[in-house]
Amino acid sequence: MFSRRAGWKLVPNRLHQLAEAARRRGQLTDLTVSNPARCGFVYPAAMLQALAAPAGLLYDPQPLGLEAARAAVRGYYRERGGAVPARLLLTASTSEAYAHLFRLLCDAGEAALMPAPSYPLFEMLAGVEAVELQSVPMTYEHGWRLDAAALAAAAGPRVKALLLVNPNNPAGNYLRPAAWTELQALAAERGWALVVDEVFFDYALPPYAAQDLDLDRAPALTFVLNGLSKIAALPQMKLAWIAVFGPEPAAEEALARLEVINDLFLSAATPVQLAAPAFLAARHGVQPQIRTRLQANLAALDRTLKEVPAAARLEVEGGWSVLLRLPRVHSDEAWAETILERAGVLTHPGHFFGMAQESHLALSLLPEEAEFARGVDGLLGAVKKELG
Ligand SMILES: Cc1ncc(COP(=O)(O)O)c(C=O)c1O
Repeated sequence: MFSRRAGWKLVPNRLHQLAEAARRRGQLTDLTVSNPARCGFVYPAAMLQALAAPAGLLYDPQPLGLEAARAAVRGYYRERGGAVPARLLLTASTSEAYAHLFRLLCDAGEAALMPAPSYPLFEMLAGVEAVELQSVPMTYEHGWRLDAAALAAAAGPRVKALLLVNPNNPAGNYLRPAAWTELQALAAERGWALVVDEVFFDYALPPYAAQDLDLDRAPALTFVLNGLSKIAALPQMKLAWIAVFGPEPAAEEALARLEVINDLFLSAATPVQLAAPAFLAARHGVQPQIRTRLQANLAALDRTLKEVPAAARLEVEGGWSVLLRLPRVHSDEAWAETILERAGVLTHPGHFFGMAQESHLALSLLPEEAEFARGVDGLLGAVKKELG
């Protein structure tokens, strides 16, 4: 009855069932929360007031998005010091932006390439558009390495796009200028489009400082994605964008075709677009709270890890998560289940993010400090007990 691409197994896995049972007992410490609207941040009142603009009652369908909102997005890049996109299209979410790009770039059965680890949503987003996501592992040795030669060797003939998350979720590594130049050259040579997801760009973790990519002279057709979901910690507002860079005439044609695709849905709501300038301005009130939280939780994790030499965390340069390496006596799934059963602490096993490396857990750095500390104590306590 259903299409093969909607043929998901919808039964919850054991980890999920254990977590739900612990939640019902009121005994769950959730170190996977990534919804910023549930993490105790204080949002400036101006954000809600901005939704009451009278023009929100008018319908003026604009397939690229309303000019006021697009100007605010350009202002964001100007302030950041990044390339200001001349070609810009608004969508309801970064996820929708991916869907549009798969529709633009790939026929059914074609493929996109993506370094792993990466967020599992991407494989599903590709799958529902009948696109295959091929993943290529990054290597880790005192930091993640993304090897252009490995990507080139792994890519099959059906690949049309290379997807990069900068910084990666959950690995937290930013693209370096040298790697960027190599990947641009590779994509241009193979005729691939580059898709760069920068939703976590503003969340570098000191001492790392994020560096903008050189986009103005991109030799490959390049799409940069971002949105309010992480920039202003407003996933519920549903506003994101695609900025198009790269050579002519491909970049202009890409925008024209994306405009047609967007016109089919017109998903970005008018009141939200009108409020976009206020939402983007209000990020200056929200981002510092989030950065303080991320840094405090990372420091707390490091303090607790000193007492558990069997566990270590991987280097992280930015983003909202961190990876923990545990002894290989158990698989990552078994560790996650053991920790949940012993301590009521929910984490994500690394394989959830397509990690080829054994026995890693991903933790969100977003929970409130007391909750995070309780979770980390429980987690590492369970690890110590398990190792005897
Ligand atoms: C790397 C990355 N990109 C995109 C998204 C989705 O963002 P949006 O809410 O704009 O769809 C997520 C969600 O967590 C993400 O982790």
